Formats: sequence, structure tokens, C-alpha cells
Amino acid sequence: MTSTELAREALPQKIKQTIKRSLGPWGVFLEGFMRHPVMVGSIIPSSRFTINRMLKPVDWANCKLFVEYGPGVGTFCRPVLDRLPRDGQLIVIDTNPLFIEYLRKTISDSRFIAVHGSASDVEEIVRAHGHEKADYVLSGLPFSTLPDGIGPAIAAATHRVIRKGGAFLVYQFTPKARSYMARHFQRIDDALEPINVPPCFLWWGWKDEDED
Ligand SMILES: C[S@@+](CC[C@H](N)C(=O)[O-])C[C@H]1O[C@@H](n2cnc3c(N)ncnc32)[C@H](O)[C@@H]1O
Repeated sequence: MTSTELAREALPQKIKQTIKRSLGPWGVFLEGFMRHPVMVGSIIPSSRFTINRMLKPVDWANCKLFVEYGPGVGTFCRPVLDRLPRDGQLIVIDTNPLFIEYLRKTISDSRFIAVHGSASDVEEIVRAHGHEKADYVLSGLPFSTLPDGIGPAIAAATHRVIRKGGAFLVYQFTPKARSYMARHFQRIDDALEPINVPPCFLWWGWKDEDED
């Protein structure tokens, strides 16, 4: 191959990288979506309205461990770290290695841990990082497109891992997740956030102090 042919072949690659760099986190999210559309489930990250509303009921003063499933490019990570106490910890779990690598590169906060794995292994992951229970778990998982049995298994493991008084925070475009939550969480608050693409349901499943 001549040098002119080599240069011609490298050009589309260069253009792709330039576009990706100029899009910042959006470019990484788009690439993650194009590689695994079913697992990512959405083409646009959550809006700040969704973030603020979802995080509002959290009792931050009593939050030592916050876990997030499916952080993507970290839309929720910085807002969670901004609210988390200095001695708290945020563990995020995502099956997409591209997102985990991006988060490790871009978030340098000693309270932040990015784990490449599945939310269904949350109990082992929490234990491996020295905790018995999580105070809150947040999920951006596309429950309606997860492989059979995974959604119910994640809801069950999440209920076991949350301490009494804590909660499971879920945002979703379809009501599927709520049906999985309702098998374990006796009290679920809900809302609809219209300023999000598309508008999304928000649920807070509370693990009350007087539960068995
Ligand atoms: C809709 S995106 C979430 C985007 C992001 N949290 C936001 O607010 O914009 C769903 C994410 O869930 C991840 N995911 C899918 N299945 C998973 C699983 N079993 N465990 C952990 N993460 C998973 C995908 O890789 C993707 O990053």
C-alpha cells in the first residue's frame, strides 16, 4: 500500500475521532449506544431536572454508601458526589467497559469507585469494598430490555443489599421496573419527569424500618 493509500484509509478514522472528541461525554455515550443498543437502552443522557428530582428525597447526612447501576458516562455521578458526605463512597456498576474506562479517566475523587460488572452481583461488589449494606441504590438500567430473569434478580438483590431506612431510586421510560420493585418494596413513591428525552417515570422504593 502506498503512503497516499494509507493516508486515505486513515482519514475516516481521524474524522470519527475528531467528531467524538468534539461531542465530549455525548460522543462516548453515543458510541456505547451504537455498540450495545439493547443494553444501553437510550440515546440521550438524563436531564438535570430528572437528576435533581430523583436525588431530592435522599437523606445525604446519613448516606455512607451510595450505589449506582448503569452510570453510562456519569450523568448522575457528579451530582451524587456533590451531595455525598466527605466520608461517603459512591460505587457505580456498569456492564459496558467503554463507560467504565471513561469514568475512571474523567472522575478523580477518592470516594468514587467504578466497577465493570453486572448489577445482579451488587451484594458481592458491596462486600468486596468493605460494606455490609448500601444506604441508597440508584438505577438507570433499561429494565424492559434486560435478558429474561435479570430484572427480577436485580430487584431482589437490591432489596437485600439496602439497609432498613434506605431506598431504591429508579428512573425508566416504561413501567416495567415498578412491577419488579413492587415484589419487594412495600412502599413506593412515584413521579413523572416531563423535561427529559423521552419523559420518564421516577420511583423511590423505601425499605422501611419496621419491615421483616
Ligand atoms: C440508559 S443507560 C443509563 C444512562 C445514564 N445513567 C444517564 O442517566 O444518562 C443504561 C446503562 O445501563 C448499563 N447496563 C445494562 N445492563 C446492566 C447491568 N446488568 N448491570 C449494570 N449496568 C448495566 C448500560 O451499559 C448503560 O450504561
